[in-house]
Amino acid sequence: MTVLLLPGDGIGPEVVAAGASVLEALVARHGLQITLEQGLIGGAALDRSQRPLPAETLAQAKRAQAILLGAVGGPAWDRVDASLRPEKGLLELRAGLGLFANLRPATLHPELGGVSPLKPEVVEGLDILIVRELCGDVYYGEPRGIRVLDGGERQGYNTMVYREGEIRRIARVAFDVARRRRRRVCSIDKANVLEATRLWREVVQAVGQDFPDVELTHMYVDNAAMQLVRQPTAFDVMLTPNMFGDILSDLAAAVTGSIGMLPSASLNQGACGLYEPIHGSAPDIAGRDLANPLATILSVAMMLRHSLGAQALAERVEQAVTRVLQGGLRTRDIHAPGTTEVGTRAMAEAVLREL
Ligand code: IPM
Ligand code: MG
Repeated sequence: MTVLLLPGDGIGPEVVAAGASVLEALVARHGLQITLEQGLIGGAALDRSQRPLPAETLAQAKRAQAILLGAVGGPAWDRVDASLRPEKGLLELRAGLGLFANLRPATLHPELGGVSPLKPEVVEGLDILIVRELCGDVYYGEPRGIRVLDGGERQGYNTMVYREGEIRRIARVAFDVARRRRRRVCSIDKANVLEATRLWREVVQAVGQDFPDVELTHMYVDNAAMQLVRQPTAFDVMLTPNMFGDILSDLAAAVTGSIGMLPSASLNQGACGLYEPIHGSAPDIAGRDLANPLATILSVAMMLRHSLGAQALAERVEQAVTRVLQGGLRTRDIHAPGTTEVGTRAMAEAVLREL
């Protein structure tokens, strides 16, 4: 099995190096049989080959069992054409591999209770899994563009579209994972205004009939944003269209207080998956050994579980992270009084020692 490393931009190379060191340790000492490859994506690819997703990278990704991605984008490429933006590389990769199921857990590590901006009693026990549809919606809908109207005024336009089949397959993923959790799915839409999401609600409802043991509720996205702050522990699985999931997953992450801690998986119909921290490229701290590598290391754990069939190793990695936190080491983003601040490399080394 091949694992493709795509460091990308900003802090991407630093956190992917940390994730790769964990994979290498598992190969060297714990019998994991994989080969690591490296490729270019995002601004880093644009600088070298004029494309945010070179054909060579897509070919490498298609051959790989799993991909570990850092982050894409940054101010250096803010002025490039929309079709060549670093983010486009990630969007093309998702579409090219059919990675429609994005799993974004937002959990509160008990050791980090104090870092949430919300009151401890509001977030205690927080454990949400956002299941975000990743290949449809306004992200990919046509037509799109900026056009000049009669009279010379410009108009930007995008199209929110969802096919029944696209809704059905992501809904099934949500119900399936809910069965391994607290058996509750809250589907997010804006069915009071948008037809595309009225269809979403209808299809999710129909799929729900096949899962009578899972409780299904529906919530408008604006209300969901409010409930995530008021009573986040009321959610188990949140099933979302692409755009709403993008927004709500940042909100859910912020509620945990530690966006530097949260991993994600993007899966297709097969076993191939793309794994990445949910934080971005953080250009302001890039190259300064300040980034938190734990989201990437926990993404490696998700990779072991979902793509490499190595459940026991996944747990081993997660336990190593927990023990490091219990030992009091913190990167700057999660630092609190009474804990010891360390850099990216020292944090990764501490995890390797625990492993
Ligand atoms: C995310 C990011 C991406 C998205 C960007 C980088 C294209 O915000 O994964 O949430 O909008 O999906
Ligand atoms: Mg986002």
